[in-house]
Amino acid sequence: MTSGLHPKRLLGKVVVVTGAAGGQGAAEAHALTREGAQVVATDVTETPGCRRLDVTSERDWAQLAAELRESYGQVHGLVNNAGITWRARIDDVRAEDMARVHAVNVTGPLLGIQHLLPLMRAGASIVNVGSSAALTAHYPVAYTASKWALRGLSRTAAMELGPRGIRVNAIHPGFIETDMTASAAPAFREANLRETPLGRTGTVDDVTPLVVFLLSDDSSFVTGAEIPVDGGLTAHGGAKSISDALRRDT
Ligand code: NAI
Repeated sequence: MTSGLHPKRLLGKVVVVTGAAGGQGAAEAHALTREGAQVVATDVTETPGCRRLDVTSERDWAQLAAELRESYGQVHGLVNNAGITWRARIDDVRAEDMARVHAVNVTGPLLGIQHLLPLMRAGASIVNVGSSAALTAHYPVAYTASKWALRGLSRTAAMELGPRGIRVNAIHPGFIETDMTASAAPAFREANLRETPLGRTGTVDDVTPLVVFLLSDDSSFVTGAEIPVDGGLTAHGGAKSISDALRRDT
């Protein structure tokens, strides 16, 4: 909310968002800006309003950190949103696929944390964008393994950085309408709908309020948390089809 009755929640905060050229990252950058943040939107693809940064590149991160030190002196937030998928199954996935996906989805967030940490003070907040794949046996194994690894990174970082007053949380989106899901087979969408208690897919606007909350001081005692934003997809552990079948039959 940004009406006169609701003060902007991120006023004066400098926040870096990765993978912000489109999809959830772009929506997060807009939402954070609306709440008063000075957003540094970055992406491997250079677009207007988006600075080029490949999350796998130490050099890119070092350069960004140097620029932010010069221009702002500190950073209050980091959204590790950039991510890639690779839809090979376990029979077909290659070691190089595992390494490539891991580099973007896990090493990228680690490098971001490492390079921006010297600019963060108590009160800073980091959000790692996981996935419902991080809570389940999602079939694209390179992606799934990387997102489970990101959970480990998030929890370790929360523990390690807590004493410095820096919070680290993970969010786990379900099926969200972006380029990533647009490239999936129609069957993927239909099967997701069947398994989602709220009975619809999500939009970027379902995700951004959670990111704003986790970056704001409203969540000042929340760290090490993992929050699904998935319409209930991961809550039922496969029991939905059983419940649905019995409802039909009884
Ligand atoms: P998207 O494909 O629309 O956006 C991803 C962005 O990351 C793109 O702009 C891309 O250029 C950027 N990117 C890729 N490699 C990069 C690199 N090396 N360095 C910097 N940027 C890079 O996908 P979407 O849906 O917006 O994904 C955002 C995050 O949400 C990802 O981490 C994804 O895994 C996660 N997610 C998405 C879900 C969905 O249903 N769309 C579900 C669960 C998680």
